Amino acid sequence: MPLSAEFYRSRRRQLMELVGDGNAALIAAASEKLRSNDVEYRFRQNSDFDYLTGFPEPDALCLLLPGHPKHEYVLFVRPRDAERETWTGRRAGEEGAQRVYGADAAFPIDRLDELVPQLLGDCDAVFFSMDRRAAYNQRILDWLETLQSGRQRSGSAPGEQHDLRALLHEMRLFKSPEEVAAMRAAATLSCEAHQRILTTARPGQREYEIEAELEYAFRMGGASGPAYPSIVAGGINATILHYTENCCVLEDGDLLLVDAGAELDGYCGDVTRTFPVGARFEGRQRDIYELVLKAQLAAVEAVAPGRAFDDVHDVALQILIEGLVELRIVEGSADQVLEQQLYRPYYMHRTSHWLGRDVHDVGLYRDGEGSRLLEPGMVLTVEPGLYFGEHGDAEKWRGIGVRIEDDVLVTEEGAEVLTGALAKSLAEVEALRGEAR
Ligand code: GLY
Ligand code: MN
Ligand code: MN
Repeated sequence: MPLSAEFYRSRRRQLMELVGDGNAALIAAASEKLRSNDVEYRFRQNSDFDYLTGFPEPDALCLLLPGHPKHEYVLFVRPRDAERETWTGRRAGEEGAQRVYGADAAFPIDRLDELVPQLLGDCDAVFFSMDRRAAYNQRILDWLETLQSGRQRSGSAPGEQHDLRALLHEMRLFKSPEEVAAMRAAATLSCEAHQRILTTARPGQREYEIEAELEYAFRMGGASGPAYPSIVAGGINATILHYTENCCVLEDGDLLLVDAGAELDGYCGDVTRTFPVGARFEGRQRDIYELVLKAQLAAVEAVAPGRAFDDVHDVALQILIEGLVELRIVEGSADQVLEQQLYRPYYMHRTSHWLGRDVHDVGLYRDGEGSRLLEPGMVLTVEPGLYFGEHGDAEKWRGIGVRIEDDVLVTEEGAEVLTGALAKSLAEVEALRGEAR
């Protein structure tokens, strides 16, 4: 279900309290991006802008002026234009920005340079984020410079500038109940799509056929599409962490690693399962799968309020290392393997990242000197893996890549695995594969 107008209002209210009366915050919408020649990519709103406004169009700017007597929430938007709308789609315009999206005042985007310096003139501090678009950054600096150089006559100009992300991304890290509901829905839909291919994938199919099935299920479930390029990796392709070519034939006897999640109502699922292309895991595949699963289950168990974010990784890593030693894939004691990072050819990524509006979501992982502690409302992935690729020494194991990934909400009592309904025990996975046709 789309987020309510009240949700966006409450986000703006919370941010305005943090920014403080008499100050200002600027947040820009995304721009359209050219794909090739004159064709654009499908538009995706900037996550920060969307979180505060729900306004779905490009080329807009949100200006928050906490404590302003007339308009605390100002939107600059593309003006209505019958001809442009006939070619490229409907626009809310200034009237819609106020009526539908709740802005206290709205202006056409082409009046930015005239109006923003006026609106910021009496503010003490301005909060904004640098952007990957150099022209946008320059524009903000130009507004601030205009105000500073006019100060001699106007008598006032914002004296402080702050990075908005420090406030906004800390807010985004803690999911409100409405966001948790959206994340649960994205996780459930992602699991349904995985469940579907767990019971239908078969040898001889191409990886892209699986990708098509997943993305069909996402869209049929109301998602805007995949939350990130789906990884459908048969055999040794699973050892390439961000493999997205998805072009090869699935071979009986290989494993298939599928890392795919839906983006639903602005929130991401991020789920990985690894299963046999045929009906059963074979000897070495079984050893590695059981080891990764053991690490994953223990790491999920480590998610709880008050535990350090890094503990989740450390728990998974310790189990993977002990297994690598036991299987004689690496030599030495577990302590030596850890100390000398001898596991790195086989486990080269971290176990977790924040999840939310962005698949690799915002929010700090460190707090002062150390790993920050988990708190209720945070959502993270737990995704250990082992990879025996073309470049490693463990020849006997070459071609095996296993990752198991779930999405976990930290709760008051402990944790809720949002993707817990999807099979991952060896017996459950083999049972589903046995039914597949
Ligand atoms: N699918 C990207 C990730 O798991 O981090
Ligand atoms: Mn993933
Ligand atoms: Mn992930």
